Amino acid sequence: MNKFLILSSLTLAVAFSSSAEIKTVKDHFKDDFLIGAAIPVRHVNGLDPKADSIVSLHFNSIVAENCMKNGEIQPKEGEFFWDDADKFVKYGEDRNMAIIGHALVWHSQLAPWFPKDKDGNDVSPEVLKQRMKDHIYAVVGRYKGKIKGWDVVNEAIEDDGSYRKSPFYRILGEEYIPLAFQYAHEADPDAELYINDFSMFKPGKREAYVKIVNDLKKRGLRIDGIGMQSHIGMDYPEMYEYEKSIIDFAGTGCNVMITELDMSALPTVQMSADVGSMFRMKPEERREAMKKFNVYPDGLPEDVSKEWNDRMAQVLALYKKHADKISRVTWWGTTDGMSWKNGFPIPGRTDYPLLFDRQYNMKPFMQKELEN
Ligand code: GLA
Repeated sequence: MNKFLILSSLTLAVAFSSSAEIKTVKDHFKDDFLIGAAIPVRHVNGLDPKADSIVSLHFNSIVAENCMKNGEIQPKEGEFFWDDADKFVKYGEDRNMAIIGHALVWHSQLAPWFPKDKDGNDVSPEVLKQRMKDHIYAVVGRYKGKIKGWDVVNEAIEDDGSYRKSPFYRILGEEYIPLAFQYAHEADPDAELYINDFSMFKPGKREAYVKIVNDLKKRGLRIDGIGMQSHIGMDYPEMYEYEKSIIDFAGTGCNVMITELDMSALPTVQMSADVGSMFRMKPEERREAMKKFNVYPDGLPEDVSKEWNDRMAQVLALYKKHADKISRVTWWGTTDGMSWKNGFPIPGRTDYPLLFDRQYNMKPFMQKELEN
């Protein structure tokens, strides 16, 4: 940590300690679950000292936002880029945090060479198996004993419960999942291993993952956790569906993890209908259409903020109710200004999905929670 960072962390800590008692989120939930945040490289590099203070004070777990993804860490065959991931791990070690690795096998942010031969055709199953094994051995092996757990397979299943037709599935079929878990366990027998996906509240995904996890266990493979990403919105998920998934996932004997929490405050965008048609528009038409989706560019109106906080309080109440099943709640970022939701699924929006606002203030629902 450089001097400036130490100073800024101290200033914040002192500011807190001068008020009667310091209440941190991680202490508040210490008997319930770990509290985590996804960390971007600029944060690890000391370029966001205020966010660093927040993370150091309130969180006891971190996950790599991007720097451990396949395309980042092995951009060319056999050429690994370790600098950012090394710094990320060191950051967590210095703060005695539970460090989570993300993600070993995922169709997105996958290095283009990975499933292809030199002519651009799919490699054979044998070659892909070897590449998966080499990748997993190298990455997991490098951080053996330092990473608490890995997202081994990410986003393998479609909403209807069928397998996503990723390059891994196309070439290896369903078998790629057990193989990935086998390799990860061989590379670090003590690391926890997780499977992770979005929209885990949907019945199709719920049933598919319960089956996959039970099958892995039947084969004697290690799996410790089911990650529910939880990129949620004001109108989804239905709480009873969300709760049912928590209960059913815990029924497999795995820990449930809320792995990528954020709740958009903006109108939900229908990907195919809204975004698809927008791409076919002329630029000026698109700007007009954007307004419909970027409704709070200058700040969240009070009533919407209240609605967001009330709903987040409900979500948190659900997690607390099932604290015996949930081992970690990780936010996908720290402050609204740095959230990927500002750029997805439509670029250039102003969203308000995280635990701290753009001025680094904790959201009211959590302040209230800490007061209790
Ligand atoms: C998915 C991935 C994450 C991240 C988010 C959005 O949920 O698992 O790594 O890319 O999308 O940023």
